[in-house]
Amino acid sequence: MKNMVALSLKYQEGVLSILNQQTLPNQVEWLVSRSPEDMIGYIRELKTRGAPLIGVSASLALAQFAEQGASENEFRMAALALKEARPTAVNLMICIDRLLDYDTYDSSQVVAKAEAIFDEDVELCRKIAIHGASFLEDGDNVLTHCNTGGLATVGGGTALGVIAEAHRQGKKIHVYVDETRPLLQGGRLTTYELQELDIPYTLICDNMAASLMAEGKIQKAIVGADRIALNGDFANKIGTYGVAVLCHYHKVPFYVAAPYTTVDRDCPSGREIPIEQRDPFEVKGVQGAFGKVQWAPEKGQVYNPAFDVTPAQLVSGWVLDQAAYTYQQIQDGVLKP
Ligand code: MRU
Repeated sequence: MKNMVALSLKYQEGVLSILNQQTLPNQVEWLVSRSPEDMIGYIRELKTRGAPLIGVSASLALAQFAEQGASENEFRMAALALKEARPTAVNLMICIDRLLDYDTYDSSQVVAKAEAIFDEDVELCRKIAIHGASFLEDGDNVLTHCNTGGLATVGGGTALGVIAEAHRQGKKIHVYVDETRPLLQGGRLTTYELQELDIPYTLICDNMAASLMAEGKIQKAIVGADRIALNGDFANKIGTYGVAVLCHYHKVPFYVAAPYTTVDRDCPSGREIPIEQRDPFEVKGVQGAFGKVQWAPEKGQVYNPAFDVTPAQLVSGWVLDQAAYTYQQIQDGVLKP
């Protein structure tokens, strides 16, 4: 496989590694993935995360396995296991299905496809950024949720890529970053990326967005997606639906940005999107490179869905790599195969 380098995934001189997103920003730690099992662990533990990134990471792990001499049966078993590593982000399934779609199993073809998936993601991010930046105006305060930047993709990101492009174009953009409980992707990762990009931002707790909107301090909101259904409903990090409801009430335009690899052509509506339930500890406490703290009682019951579904009616625009679509275009079936 050729050398490929992104912000949080690289294949160099035969070594596949991921940037451990659980220890960021305190600690920059690269972890080597020697097998599909290693990558499954990294994806499950959210060491590698973000819908586009997990699709590409799984593809490289499979290509490496094929290159190491895996038999067709071993390859297919590993592909199925990787597909089950996380249930909501459909990029994982779509990328792996591309690798499984062959007439005759041939490791060099698997490698070529994985390389193409990596390169394509960079291009998809670039196109999303261009389409989306036109919605952001000079002087806008933009709310975002979770992390959707270069760390979550192998390109410049989805929603955060849009913000970065508007900034590059010279628009004065200020970002309100939801910290994104329980795993704090906003507080740990989006702030880190915005700082690197030199884009002004203010970190807020998730429950502070409402009062900012009431005061007229947020002009736009833009988020990423883990799976978009054909009717425009979409799953994204838990809390996104709340942001959409707030935007609707306060008449703040609310956009979702994602590549076509996030659109599930087999999923008619948000009702069919599987939602991952995660470890109760994530809500009872917090852990990272700084250590582990639990504040809630050990036996307490916890509700911890990793994602929620935002209905299409609340979305002002779907910013995809092909184009940005309106509600009417989505209802007319523009996403349908
Ligand atoms: O559970 P995570 O951290 O993988 O969730 C990530 C998100 O929800 C992102 O907002 C989404 O994947 C879009 S990434 C470009």
